[in-house]
Amino acid sequence: MDLRTSSEPASAASGASLIVFLPKADDFLSAGVPQEIDQALDGALTSLAADGELTGKQGEMIVVHSFGKIPTKRIVLAGLGAPEKFSLDVLRSTAASAARRARSIGSGELAVAVQQEPLAEADAAQAVAEGLILGLYRFDRHLSPPDDQHDVDAATLHGADTEALERGMEIGVILAEAANFCRDLANEPSNILTPTELAARAAQWGQDSGVEVEILEEAEIAEIGMGSFLGVAKGSNEPAKLIVLRYQGGGSEPAIGLVGKGITFDTGGISIKPAANMEAMKQDMSGAAAVIAAIGAVARLKLPVNVTAIAPATENMPGGSAIKPGDVLTAMNGKTIEVINTDAEGRLILADALAYADQLGLTPLIDVATLTGACAVALGNVATGVMTNDDDLAQEVIEAGTRAGEKLWQLPMYEEYEEQIKSNVADVKNTGGRLAGAQTAAKLLAMFVGDRPWAHLDMAGTDDSDKVKGILVKGATGTPVRTLINFVRARAERRSSG
Ligand code: BES
Ligand code: MN
Ligand code: ZN
Repeated sequence: MDLRTSSEPASAASGASLIVFLPKADDFLSAGVPQEIDQALDGALTSLAADGELTGKQGEMIVVHSFGKIPTKRIVLAGLGAPEKFSLDVLRSTAASAARRARSIGSGELAVAVQQEPLAEADAAQAVAEGLILGLYRFDRHLSPPDDQHDVDAATLHGADTEALERGMEIGVILAEAANFCRDLANEPSNILTPTELAARAAQWGQDSGVEVEILEEAEIAEIGMGSFLGVAKGSNEPAKLIVLRYQGGGSEPAIGLVGKGITFDTGGISIKPAANMEAMKQDMSGAAAVIAAIGAVARLKLPVNVTAIAPATENMPGGSAIKPGDVLTAMNGKTIEVINTDAEGRLILADALAYADQLGLTPLIDVATLTGACAVALGNVATGVMTNDDDLAQEVIEAGTRAGEKLWQLPMYEEYEEQIKSNVADVKNTGGRLAGAQTAAKLLAMFVGDRPWAHLDMAGTDDSDKVKGILVKGATGTPVRTLINFVRARAERRSSG
């Protein structure tokens, strides 16, 4: 989709549909774009409002025809809800729903009147751009094209200050396209997106974005001693890859480390999963996808920081050489792990990836993983779990999420949980029983981050959506890509302002 800006009044906009946002207020037609359109349509909106058909309530989506009174054919009136509750997130989400509505009635070219008050125009333009690109996302590359499929090819954002619009729009495009790239990877079935293919797509994306790419093969992974990661890989015929992407925009500063779980399919291994819903486990690499996508966006934004993304990629399969319950693995930092359940494989590959990040001197460390069903049980599909050894860092990540409209909630890291993962034969065991399953997983990871400030994001509940709502469509959500980018943006700003 091609995005542009214009300072022409919205009533002069061309394009098949004009999206106009309406707050839920008594005087919503007495100012701004709504008033301008109402007057151009000889009071049509006033009479709809008088009949109670137009209220501006959240979720309301009314399509009216202009019958030649203005250049655009249709106006999509999108309700924003109560002004007290208005936010960037409401605007982003409403723009997404309105764009889908316009597409469904065949509008290939959109105009959007960017509603800003009381938001800054650049921020509003960013939210609208994100909403359009995220909301119109489709994963249809394996579908025969239906005869009646409509696509939106272009959108023009109308507002007062084109310089501000342009600035916000460009950021919005980069963030949303990165999230959609993450979605494309996560939605791809595992027969196509093998660890080799994930590495190839990461390399291509890295190259296109201006990021240095290094892919470590199994022999090299063995050489640096990643016995825990390679233990998981042993059950699969697909060669494992360690994907490392580096962006150097910040001189000699230490790099921020982003680590993502890249299980391209999780069968559970010898501790095999039940068949029901196992297909969802093609998405068990969405942590890897998120960190790969995020570092590309950081490079596209040319932020003055250093970032390294690390993604261990393998399948978790029950092959003849697979690890078995009771096996002991040695990670690259020398710590040993007793495998109680081969389905707790995410922490096994992340243990080595985090130890590697520590060894490379990366700081702070943020890992992203579809790690535990327990986290999904605790927080549902509403919020991503955050576990940390540094509460300030966790707060920083949570705030970056708020700006992205992505909810994160911190879970406690009580010392008592460590009891649950004590092993009789190794330094730690890879499961801690049913209680506090998200935290015992995090407690294992904590043993591999050295002294680095570290935050662990468990998005087992949030990486996938079963409904179409706001920026979400069915399938991969692209979370927490925009949170990660916002985190790095905030660090970059802090740095350049001394
Ligand atoms: N990839 C799964 C976690 C998961 C479950 C993600 C559902 C998304 C939706 C992970 O590898 C796993 O299997 N975890 C086990 C751990 C258990 C064996 C300690 C779990 O949560 O059941
Ligand atoms: Mn598993
Ligand atoms: Zn898994």
